[in-house]
Amino acid sequence: MKFFIDTANLTEIKEAYDLGVLDGVTTNPSLMAKEGIRGDENVRNHYKAICDIVDDKVSAEVIATDFEGIVKEGKELAKIDDKIVVKVPMIKDGIKAIKYFSSEGIRTNCTLVFSAGQAILAAKAGASYLSPFIGRLDDIAFDGLDLIGQIVHIYQNYGFETEVLAASIRHTMHLIKCAELGADVVTCPLKVITGLLNHPLTDKGLAQFLADHAKANS
Ligand code: G3P
Repeated sequence: MKFFIDTANLTEIKEAYDLGVLDGVTTNPSLMAKEGIRGDENVRNHYKAICDIVDDKVSAEVIATDFEGIVKEGKELAKIDDKIVVKVPMIKDGIKAIKYFSSEGIRTNCTLVFSAGQAILAAKAGASYLSPFIGRLDDIAFDGLDLIGQIVHIYQNYGFETEVLAASIRHTMHLIKCAELGADVVTCPLKVITGLLNHPLTDKGLAQFLADHAKANS
């Protein structure tokens, strides 16, 4: 199972990378805006700065929504660094662009996926990664985790190579359930990754070990 961090914040990316468990980064236009990154050159420089921190797989999302625009923008993003994965929205022209990128050897992440039908289309088009949004489905009273299970099952049926990248993960149980369901990748905020560390019995046990050691050595 791969861990991606879902942020454009360089400090958080560095902290997750230094933990030694990070396999990649996902961003989106909202996350870039949150960091105050605006203007084509600044956006490119910021993606390069992210690529310089991690080993591989940095999803950079296109803004264009027409085939020609997505292809042009995606090619420019891919030129920034070999680590870039072009993130393309699940729309008709997006599917056509994913097919094109696939034939050109450019990796893609199909985003804003909310149904099994969309997942099948993206895999048929040759997407490298598929991003179903769990939390946003939960927000409107659909079960996001059910969708992850359904897509993993369908992809296994046909041996699709597209990796299921569970996104919009809000808490540690989302991540753990995704692991049970067989998602290939999870992308989540830093607090979800570090949240996996926590257990009160670990804290209590460590305090006891240290106290016993101190007593024996006093
Ligand atoms: O990057 C896509 C996705 O992970 C967004 O998550 O929390 O804004 O629904 P969220």
